[in-house]
Amino acid sequence: MHTETTATMVDTVIRSRKTVRAFRSGAVPRPQLVEILEMARTAPSTFNTQPWRVHLLAGGAKRALSEAILQVHAANTSAPFAPFPQPPPPDCGARLDDFGRRYYATPGIDRADMAARARQTGRNFLFFDAPVGLIFTIDAALTKHSWLDYGLFLQNLMLAAQARGLATCPQVSFVRYQSIIAEHLGLAPEEAVVCGMSLGYADEQAAVNQLEMPREPLEGFTRWLGFDD
Ligand SMILES: Cc1cc2nc3c(=O)[nH]c(=O)nc-3n(C[C@H](O)[C@H](O)[C@H](O)COP(=O)(O)O)c2cc1C
Repeated sequence: MHTETTATMVDTVIRSRKTVRAFRSGAVPRPQLVEILEMARTAPSTFNTQPWRVHLLAGGAKRALSEAILQVHAANTSAPFAPFPQPPPPDCGARLDDFGRRYYATPGIDRADMAARARQTGRNFLFFDAPVGLIFTIDAALTKHSWLDYGLFLQNLMLAAQARGLATCPQVSFVRYQSIIAEHLGLAPEEAVVCGMSLGYADEQAAVNQLEMPREPLEGFTRWLGFDD
């Protein structure tokens, strides 16, 4: 199992995954979705508690949720949404700014044009035209360790999709519309939306999919202690 070929293959899948925000319309066969979820569920979790619940949407069900959210989104573009503390820690804040500059530059949006930004944000709720929309929920009573577990599950899912020629966009944007989603999907009272995700085949030509997000070099976030002893 620990061969160079395996490492190369795994590295290739990890490196080639990137967030896709424009999809082709081709449907994803259901057995392939099952395969991807089978891989996702192998994720480790604290005391093996497996806190994930996945709601898969396609066709009319996906359209209906999109319409319900977009109706509210269009009417109230300035609804408060704060996935980060204000102000964020300086290093995260700088990267957040950098993201904003790159993200709005790609589809040619002026960052000061709030209406254009809201329209672009609205594309989230169409799942960027992906054939499959996913909504991930967790029991709201669970705390940070379980949310950490969730991240591992999501990365497993995205990599399993990537390895099968599919693309994804994880989407915190949906959290803003928890109550609409709860009503629409008939969520249990304890279910909190963790995020959504668009899944399908990437539109490779789309301008928005040319965005390449940089990463900090190792020196930016590591300390090596005792290695030179
Ligand atoms: C938990 C999570 C939530 C995200 N939410 C959104 C979102 O709502 N909309 C969006 O367009 N991108 C979203 N992203 C994508 C990030 O912007 C993206 O991962 C980051 O800029 C790095 O780019 P890359 O994924 O292409 O490497 C999210 C990513 C994660 C991990």
